Amino acid sequence: MTIKKAVIPAAGFGTRFLPASKAVPKELLPIVDKPTIQYIAEEAIDTGITQVILVTGREKGSIEDHFDISFELEHHLRSKGKNDLLKIVQEISEMVQIVSIRQKMPLGLGHAILCAKQIVGDHPFAVLLADDIVDATPPCLRQMIDVYNKLGKGIILAIKEVPREEVYQYGIIDGELIEDRLYTVNSLIEKPSVEESPSNLAVIGRYLLPPEIFEVLEGLPPGKGGEIQLTDAIARLGETYPVYGYRFRGERFDAGDKMGFFIANVKFGLKHPELGPRISEFILKTAEEIQKGYETH
Ligand code: UTP
Repeated sequence: MTIKKAVIPAAGFGTRFLPASKAVPKELLPIVDKPTIQYIAEEAIDTGITQVILVTGREKGSIEDHFDISFELEHHLRSKGKNDLLKIVQEISEMVQIVSIRQKMPLGLGHAILCAKQIVGDHPFAVLLADDIVDATPPCLRQMIDVYNKLGKGIILAIKEVPREEVYQYGIIDGELIEDRLYTVNSLIEKPSVEESPSNLAVIGRYLLPPEIFEVLEGLPPGKGGEIQLTDAIARLGETYPVYGYRFRGERFDAGDKMGFFIANVKFGLKHPELGPRISEFILKTAEEIQKGYETH
């Protein structure tokens, strides 16, 4: 059975992005001219997902509004003859079937996924983190589902190599390469120290999970940081269920982190059809000024 439902958890506090994320969900901060979460929803749609389940929380209602019809705005744009903008706005609300559910307290990513249990039902499903953008063709999730369809079963985690000194920021796998880009995962550890880390292969924000994960999440105690960790649930289910890591093709940006967000803006800005040439010119000019500054000091 192939995967048609995707959960996008977006109920976290976003503490790494304060103060910007105090009243505005970090998932709505724009990468050039589109909110981060729209890139994520587009990846799901381009992959062939037919139902997106948003997990939102307090102060996050604007995320639902972003994907809803905005009658007043559409009326205003229509009456002003701004048809290009009208089309952009309408396309967002017509994208895909979006269902949303609230996580009443942000108790951790694992808990956020558990909130989607009833809507997901008894099917394998995808999870895309709302602040993790992957620039890839075909989309990262499509690559993963292609692998899943070949294997027919299993948990699949998107993985990438990270510098050894950064392993403490990620879930890290202990795995063996079995074919091009595909690893079997023997164990998983959330945010290990450099010394205890079994590899430098980090799990990033794309997962394919079976419905059995919900049962594990229901009985799971809080883990690192006092949060109900998805990594812990995967590690536990992995004792009886095959887990694979797939080293996807593409570039990943952590848009929930200030520096990752800035880099994503530069990279997507350079590719933007209208703004790209001006952004490139601006960067080159700024780099020249920085260089001159170094030379005169
Ligand atoms: P993060 O690890 O980025 O956590 O979550 P966070 O709490 O949002 O941000 P920081 O670390 O405090 O800066 C990854 C994704 O999971 C969601 C977040 O909204 C984000 O999209 N999430 C996290 C939830 O939906 N609920 C939670 O309890 C935690």
